Amino acid sequence: MDLRINKIKGLQGELELPGDKSISHRAAIIGAMSSGKTTATGFLNTGDCLSTLRCLSELGIKIEGIGGEKLAIHGRGLHGFKEPEDILDAGNSATTARLVTGLLSGQDFFSTITGDDSLRQRPMNRVTDPLVRMGASIWGRDKASRLPLAIRGGRLSGIRYTSSIASAQIKSALIIAGLLADGETTITEPHLSRDHTERMLRFMGVDISIKGLLISVQGGSQPKAMDVDIPADISSAAFFIAGALITGDSELTIRQVGVNQTRTGMIDVLKDMGADIMFDRMSMKCQESRADIIVKSGRLKNARISGDIIPRLIDEIPVLAVVATQAEGQTIFDDIGELRVKETDRIKAIVDGLQKMGADVKEIDDGFIVKGPTPLKGCQVESYGDHRIAMAMAIAGLVADGETTIRGAECMQVSFPGFEKVLQRAAK
Ligand code: S3P
Repeated sequence: MDLRINKIKGLQGELELPGDKSISHRAAIIGAMSSGKTTATGFLNTGDCLSTLRCLSELGIKIEGIGGEKLAIHGRGLHGFKEPEDILDAGNSATTARLVTGLLSGQDFFSTITGDDSLRQRPMNRVTDPLVRMGASIWGRDKASRLPLAIRGGRLSGIRYTSSIASAQIKSALIIAGLLADGETTITEPHLSRDHTERMLRFMGVDISIKGLLISVQGGSQPKAMDVDIPADISSAAFFIAGALITGDSELTIRQVGVNQTRTGMIDVLKDMGADIMFDRMSMKCQESRADIIVKSGRLKNARISGDIIPRLIDEIPVLAVVATQAEGQTIFDDIGELRVKETDRIKAIVDGLQKMGADVKEIDDGFIVKGPTPLKGCQVESYGDHRIAMAMAIAGLVADGETTIRGAECMQVSFPGFEKVLQRAAK
């Protein structure tokens, strides 16, 4: 599908956006590990989260309400999953593949898991290496570093693991396996990545110890079924925040967005760049904070984005790059090598797309440099099958002269159903 975008004057009004993708995955997986009925309200009903639900259903979990935003997940306890009859399919979702691999490693049966063309290119050894150290038997292409994986799960032993990558998927796969293991599992990461798994487990009554970057769980700790209320996804809100900032005449309120501090790096950077962004009606529900985000257009200056803030804005870098093309001065994005192993090589995809549109962007080893402000021109750009690239290019199109066509835009479905409709409604 081609998405066509034209220049607008601004974004106005109030928006309600779909539920947080990361929290939706966790509500389903941890709910399935509880005993009893967990409900999830505001569940993100899209490609990626449906992949998780499909895998859980094939593992014997009864889920009511699939296809809607309110689910009931009937947990079967830590070890109550059943051997799947066929190959599990994580689709485009690395969160599904990695967290479910953690879950399967501690189940006393054989299973196989795969994914789509993009996911089969992505590294899995970052989870399979530590899971094998815990006692799982895992086979796969390229020494178990690529899907499909075959897993003979069973009795695991807790380990101490120091991850060289700040990744919530690694951390969460090991926490999940740690709940299924004998003894204690301790995980450390170099910088703090999103902590939704830790928060959801606390909410579900699991005693999880967090001391700075050191996390420990005790094997056998069983989550209690709970009612989970999921806020809107800040990574989806990011496109509208960016769009409001760079178009001339915008004032937008985005209702009840998750503003967990491990996810708000983009807001901090934008405020440093001079953006007018405020939080209102802030509250805490199910251990996660949420707020209305109010954003107005204005002049922006450059920033340097690197180091320990990166995990706090990892998914927002494509759209931050678009903002940087409209900011005064040179914005440097560094230490973002992880973007090369996302749904596509996002560094290449952003540099390519924005250069085509006339931006001054240069690729460097571990990132890129944007010089602004530059006028953008509408043209045909590629999504590379990556939802966040497609939506970032659409936001660039809002300030470009002439029409911007994003090819392969159907991939937006994996995280943001109805992106185009919401954009049309807010565009002035
Ligand atoms: C996610 C973690 C991040 C993020 C992804 C969702 C999660 O990936 O980019 O979109 O839900 O745990 P990494 O763990 O690979 O950094």
